[in-house]
Amino acid sequence: MRCSDGPNFFDQEHVFQAYWSHRELAENANDTLEKPIFMELLGSPHDLSILDLGCGDARFGRDMHLQGCRRYVGVDGSANMIIRAAENLRNTSSILIHQRLEEWRAEGEHYDLVTSRLALHYIEDLRPLFQQVYASLVPGGRFLFSVEHPVITSSSRSSESGKREDWIVDDYFVTGERIVNWLGQRVKKYHRTIEDFFVLLREAGFLVESLRESEPQPSLFMDKAEYRRRRRIPLFLFMCGRKACK
Ligand SMILES: C[S@@+](CC[C@H](N)C(=O)[O-])C[C@H]1O[C@@H](n2cnc3c(N)ncnc32)[C@H](O)[C@@H]1O
Repeated sequence: MRCSDGPNFFDQEHVFQAYWSHRELAENANDTLEKPIFMELLGSPHDLSILDLGCGDARFGRDMHLQGCRRYVGVDGSANMIIRAAENLRNTSSILIHQRLEEWRAEGEHYDLVTSRLALHYIEDLRPLFQQVYASLVPGGRFLFSVEHPVITSSSRSSESGKREDWIVDDYFVTGERIVNWLGQRVKKYHRTIEDFFVLLREAGFLVESLRESEPQPSLFMDKAEYRRRRRIPLFLFMCGRKACK
């Protein structure tokens, strides 16, 4: 079976359809575990100029407009995602860029906030990207991202047989490429430790402001067995860095 990188993975039609079916499931992990904490860390987007790296279908951009952001720019390497994003952002002043994050370059200090939601674990080398993010922010601007949690990316052995009931954390300090079977295909992701993300932010010049994990909130789960399952291991990691004020 062929193995794809992030954009090529989402550009396979059956993967794209399966991904969106997954996202529409009741109590899906994005809505119950990722979105609440991401939004809490983000706060009000009112009047902010926002760049979103790996924007996917940009429904996040639509939400940002509804909440009064000044500008939303989304970047994604998947043509399928960009087409869907354009539909979601119709009648807004947003800008979409179809480009790989490895090739995206900052063009001055334009953004108050750079976001990236569940995209950075597809990138092999984050150092140059974090440097570009830093260069694209105004002084005092923030970089907020979510990724698959390092205890999840360390090993995919426990995900091979359907719904996980036990998790293997292994090879934690063996960072780098992982080939994962997901949505019936093989995709390349990259494992890093929590410390790696912290150091990457610091080395790019950021003051690290927040680190959160996707602890489930009981009020978001009708299915109490699912809530208990989600309390067993964190799925997502969130970090926020700030560019120093001049
Ligand atoms: C899991 S989806 C998340 C989408 C969106 N941020 C969200 O939370 O709904 C990951 C996204 O990252 C994009 N992506 C992955 N690797 C990328 C790369 N190297 N360059 C640009 N986009 C990439 C994919 O195309 C996909 O849209």
